[in-house]
Amino acid sequence: MIDYRTLKVALLGAGSVGSNVAKLLLDHGDELAARVGAGLELVGIAVRDVDAPRRTDLPRELFTTDARSLILSADIVIELMGGVDPAREYVLLALTSGADVITGNKALLAEHGPELFAAAEQVGAQLYYEAAVAGAIPIIRPLRDSLAGDRVERILGIVNGTTNFILDRMDTAGDDMESALEVATELGYAERSDPSADIEGYDAAAKAAILAGLAFHTTVPLESVHREGITSVTAQQVEAARAGGYVIKLLAICERVTDEGGTEGVSARVYPALVPREHPLAAVRGVHNAVFVQAAAAGDLMFYGAGAGGLQTASAVLGDVVSAARRHVVGGPGVAESTHADLPVLDVGAVRTRYQITLLVTDAPGVLSRIAAVFARHDVSVETVTQTVASARVPSAAPAGSADGREVPAGTATLVIGTHVAFESALAATVETLRASEEVVRVTAVLRVEGV
Ligand code: NDP
Ligand code: HSE
Repeated sequence: MIDYRTLKVALLGAGSVGSNVAKLLLDHGDELAARVGAGLELVGIAVRDVDAPRRTDLPRELFTTDARSLILSADIVIELMGGVDPAREYVLLALTSGADVITGNKALLAEHGPELFAAAEQVGAQLYYEAAVAGAIPIIRPLRDSLAGDRVERILGIVNGTTNFILDRMDTAGDDMESALEVATELGYAERSDPSADIEGYDAAAKAAILAGLAFHTTVPLESVHREGITSVTAQQVEAARAGGYVIKLLAICERVTDEGGTEGVSARVYPALVPREHPLAAVRGVHNAVFVQAAAAGDLMFYGAGAGGLQTASAVLGDVVSAARRHVVGGPGVAESTHADLPVLDVGAVRTRYQITLLVTDAPGVLSRIAAVFARHDVSVETVTQTVASARVPSAAPAGSADGREVPAGTATLVIGTHVAFESALAATVETLRASEEVVRVTAVLRVEGV
C-alpha cells in the first residue's frame, strides 16, 4: 500500500451533481489517489438542511451547514450549490484562503467571472469549471488548452438540453410548445416552479458568455449577450421548417465580427434559428448538447454528449478535481485565464446573418415588386421567394402562412422570403418597414438561418 499524502476536499452542495460527485469520490478513492499521487479525503459536505432526504446514500456525519469552516479546512473546494449568492462569497473565501476551486456554476461565472479569476490569480489558486458549460462534454479544456495555439473563429452550440428537448418534441412528435414543456417538466428537465432560465435563454446566454470569453481571450459580460428564448416558436413554424428542409434549434453563437464601420470585435448571442437538416447540429436530439467549433487551422470540430444530468456532470467535475489535485502534487502555475485580446463586444446589429421572413400579403398586382423594393432599399439581397395563395378551396395550403397560428384570410398570399447574408441591423430594419407596409397584412414569422 502506497502511503500518499492526503488532500482535503470540501463539497458545497449535495443535489443532483454534488451527491454524485461525493459518491464517486468515496467509491473510487483508491483509484483517484493512484492517478493523482495523493489521497483525496472528502472532509465535509455543506448543505442547507442536513436532515433533508437524499437519493444517494452518503455518510450523515459528513453533512454540515457551516460552509465557511468547511471551506477554510480544505485544499480543494467544489462548489455545486448553484445561484450567485452565497456561492460567490464562498468561492471568494476559498480562493483567497489559497484553495483551488471547482465549480459548475455558469450563472456565477457569467456574472462574476473576472472578479473570481482575479482573486485566484492574486494568490496563485486555480478556478476550474468544465461542468459549467454543456455538462459532461469536454469543451472548456479543449478551448483553453487544446486549441490555445489556434484561432477560433466561430462557435455554434446547442448548450441547453431542456430547450433542445422541447424543440425536438415539437419537430418529431408534433407537440406544441405548451405540451412539450409539460413533458420536459414531467421528466425533470425543466424546473417546475420556474422554467424561464431555460426557455427564455438565460442559461444558454450565461454559457455563451463563458465560451466567447474563453475562445476570444476577451471579457464578455453577460449583459452584452443578445438573448432570445424559444417561447415565440410555434408548432406551425416547426412544421414549415421541416417542409423547407430545416430544423429549429436554440443556438448559442459566439464569433469574431467586423461591423459596418470596420471595427473588429466579438459577438455572443442566443436565439432560435433554422438549421439545415444536413448540418451536424440538426442531428442533436432530445436533451443532448453539442458544440460546433470552427478554428482557422483545425477546421470544423464537433463536441457532443450529455449536457446535463447529475452523474454525467459529475464526470466533468471529477476531471477538474484530478487536475487540481495533480497541481498540488507536482506544482506548477496551472493555466491562467487570459483576456489579453480585449476585443470589443459588438451589438447584435453588427452581426452578418440571413433571415427567413414569412409574410401574409394582399394578393394584388404589384405587391411582390413593392415588397422586393423594401429589401432593396435596405441593401438586403433576396435569395429565395415562395408564394402560396390562400383560397376558399385550399384553406390550409400553406403551413408557413399560418406560422403564427392565426387564420389566413382569402385574397391574401403567403410569401416566404429567404435572404442572402446581410447585417442584422439592415435585416431588422427591413422587417420593421415591412410591418408598416400597406400590402403586408402581417409578418407571421422571422427566423435567422444559421449553419449554411
Ligand atoms: P441542486 O439544486 O440539485 O442542488 C443544490 C445543492 O446545494 C443542494 O444540496 C442544496 O442543499 C445546496 N445548497 C443550495 N444553497 C445552499 C446554501 N446557501 N448553503 C449550503 N448549501 C446550499 O443543484 P444541481 O446539483 O442540479 O446543480 C449544482 C450546480 O451545477 C449548479 O450551478 C448547476 O447550474 C450546475 N450544473 C448542473 C447540471 C445538472 O444537470 N443538474 C449540469 C451542469 C451544471 P439542500 O440539499 O440542503 O437543499
Ligand atoms: N438546465 C440546463 C439544461 C442544465 O437544460 O441544459 C444545466 O446547465
